[in-house]
Amino acid sequence: MTSVPTASQTGEGGPDGSDFPDHIAIIMDGNGRWAKARGFPRAVGHERGVEALRRTVEAAQDIGLRNLTVYSFSTENWRRPVAEVNALFGLLKAYVKRDLNRLASEGVRIRILGTREGLPEDILELVDRAEARTAKNSAFNLCIAFNYGGREEIVRAAQKLASDVADGRIEASEITEDRFTAALDTDGIPDPDIMIRTSGEFRLSNFLNWQAAYAELVFMDVLWPDFGKSHLLEAIEIYRSRERRFGGLASGAA
Ligand code: FPP
Repeated sequence: MTSVPTASQTGEGGPDGSDFPDHIAIIMDGNGRWAKARGFPRAVGHERGVEALRRTVEAAQDIGLRNLTVYSFSTENWRRPVAEVNALFGLLKAYVKRDLNRLASEGVRIRILGTREGLPEDILELVDRAEARTAKNSAFNLCIAFNYGGREEIVRAAQKLASDVADGRIEASEITEDRFTAALDTDGIPDPDIMIRTSGEFRLSNFLNWQAAYAELVFMDVLWPDFGKSHLLEAIEIYRSRERRFGGLASGAA
């Protein structure tokens, strides 16, 4: 297994400019193919996907990561068969119900990114409860993008800022990148350093369009249900081997 010193081991942790990531975002892809290859219904792939999520959250906490965001239901996923949509809703409920107490006691703050519009009442109640219960935690931010679309999030942020202008709270000229960032669902969460997509696909699929502007993209040839700590460490190794320039010059080029 690839060995990466943890943030706590190195005393580093991202915002201080170290090469340990501060935030990792994951497009958890490949549940359907994983199930199909084994002759199971797609829902079984999603169930195994939840197990992989559990493993990954634990691994992320273990190595000292502070922020993890996962894409678990997109605004486009409503186009799937009703039974699959319901299965995904059921899995979110089961995950929150089963893991909330433990995560809360471990200092995890849970945030659900995305629009509340169209979500059933029981999901809304659960989501509100999970967020309220963990709101004061700060050891680890777990953001679950559910009913999420990057463009939709940007439109909602623009609407918020437009009504701030219309109501005279701010001038249009006061809309800056920072203010826009603060109007997004990820307010207070640093931009992702790494964006992982599993299953060998090479797309961002409307995930964190604004926030991933400078994320290092890591596409991994593993189906999400098989993902685990070794893959997380491998992605961090790949990230550390890259040179991030944020629009500047390569070191030594000047
Ligand atoms: C993409 O795989 C995955 C999803 C659309 C859902 C991801 C959901 C989970 C990992 C489990 C649910 C977790 C929570 C917390 C609700 P796919 O089905 O598109 O796979 P395929 O491309 O192989 O068909």
